Amino acid sequence: MTPEEFAARRRQLMRMIGEDGIAIFPAAPRRKRNRDIDYPFRQDSDFFYLTGFAEPDAVGVLMPGREQGEFLLFCRERDPAHEAWHGAVTGPDAAPSSLMADDAFPIDDIDDILPGLLEARPRVYVTMGQYAEFDGRLTEWLNMLRRMARSGSAHTPQEFVALDHLLHDMRLYKSRRELSALRRSARVTVAAHERAMQNVRPGWFEFQLEAEFDHEFRGANARHAYPPIVGGGTNACILHYTANDSELAAGDLVLVDAGCELDYYAADVTRTYPVSGRYSSEQAAIYEVVLAAQLAAIEMLRAGNHWNDPHDAARKAIAEGLIDLGLLHGSTDAALETDAVDEFFMHRTGHWLGIDVHDVGDYRVGDQWRVLEPGMVSTVEPGVYVSHQADVDERWHGIAVRIEDVVAVTRDAPDVLTGTLVKRVDDIEAVMNG
Ligand code: GLY
Ligand code: MN
Ligand code: MN
Repeated sequence: MTPEEFAARRRQLMRMIGEDGIAIFPAAPRRKRNRDIDYPFRQDSDFFYLTGFAEPDAVGVLMPGREQGEFLLFCRERDPAHEAWHGAVTGPDAAPSSLMADDAFPIDDIDDILPGLLEARPRVYVTMGQYAEFDGRLTEWLNMLRRMARSGSAHTPQEFVALDHLLHDMRLYKSRRELSALRRSARVTVAAHERAMQNVRPGWFEFQLEAEFDHEFRGANARHAYPPIVGGGTNACILHYTANDSELAAGDLVLVDAGCELDYYAADVTRTYPVSGRYSSEQAAIYEVVLAAQLAAIEMLRAGNHWNDPHDAARKAIAEGLIDLGLLHGSTDAALETDAVDEFFMHRTGHWLGIDVHDVGDYRVGDQWRVLEPGMVSTVEPGVYVSHQADVDERWHGIAVRIEDVVAVTRDAPDVLTGTLVKRVDDIEAVMNG
C-alpha cells in the first residue's frame, strides 16, 4: 500500500466531512499481557486505514480545507535511548515526508494544541466508546474549551458525529490495491492449508497441525489473523474451539479454520478433511451437503443480490441435503420455517472481511439487507455439525464439516480469492495421498 493510497482515502473521507468538520482518530493503545510483557502491538484498523502508520502513541487529525494543512499527526518523538531498546521511531520531523502529513507534532504536546484545533470547527467526527483512555482525553480537551468559553475566549463544538459511520462504509468497498493485498493473504493461507493437508497423520496432536500454519505464515512475514481452530473429531462441533490440544485419531475428520494477516489484510479459510486421508461414506455424504451449500451460496454473491441471499441459499441446500440423508424429515420448506435445520447449521454463512477478519460495514441499510456491490469482500462458510445429542442415527454422530472461502463481489462472476485451495472430496484425497 503506497502513501498515495492512504492520502486518497483521507481525501475521500474529508470530502464527506466538509469544511466545518474535524476528524480525530487515535492509534491503538498498548496492551499488557502479563506483568511487564505487552501483547505484540497491532495498530488500530481505522487508524491504519487512514495513515498506514503502525506506531503506538499517535493521534491523527483531519481538517478539510484548512489552509495551514489538512492532515495533522501527533506521534512519538525520536529518542536515542528509547530507540536503542525498542527500535526506530519515525518522529514528527520525518512524518510529513514519509506519511504525507501536512504537519506533525510530538504526542506530548497534544493537550496544548488539540483544544485550539477543536475550537475552529463546529462539527467533530470521532469514534467514542472504543478506547477509554482516548475518551478521557477528549473529555479533557472539551472541558478546557468549556472553561475558556465561559470567559468568552473560545467556542465549543456544536455537534459530535460518529466517525465510524462514514469510515466503515468506505472500508466496505475494497480498492484495487486492497484486493491485491487480500489476494496475497489468500495465497499464503492457501499454501499453509495445503502444507497441513499433506502432512497431517493419525497420532499427531492438533497443535502440531497448527504449527504447520505458524511455519508457513511466519515464513511469509504474516501472522494468524485470529486464533486458529484445529478441531479433530467432535471437537469440530465446538464452534469456537481453540484449545487445539487433542490427539488426532484415524477415522476422524479434522476441521481447520485458519487464515493469516499480511500487511494488515486478513484471510479466513476453513477446510475439513480425514486425518487418515480417506473420508468414510458418512463423512463424505455430510461433506457433499456442505460443499453443495457453499457453492450455492458463492453463486449468490453477486452484485445486485442482497446480503442475505447467500445465507438463504446455503440454508436451503443444507435442509435439502440433510432431508436426503435422513437427518431431517418432512419438506424443505418446513425444515427452513421451523428452524429444524438450525440444529445442524447454527451460524451465519459469512461476514465482511478486510483489515479486520470480521470486517466493518453494515449488513443492513434501514430495514433491508444490504445490496451487494463490486468491491465488497465476504467469507462464505456454511457448516453442518452433528453433535452426539442430535436425534439421528448414531453413525452420523460427531461429524462436523465447515468449508470457508474468501469471495469478492465483482461486476460479473464471484471471485473466490482462495479458490485454488482444493475442496472436492477427490481432490482433497489426492492431495493428502500424494
Ligand atoms: N475464523 C472466524 C470465522 O470464521 O469467522
Ligand atoms: Mn474462519
Ligand atoms: Mn469466517
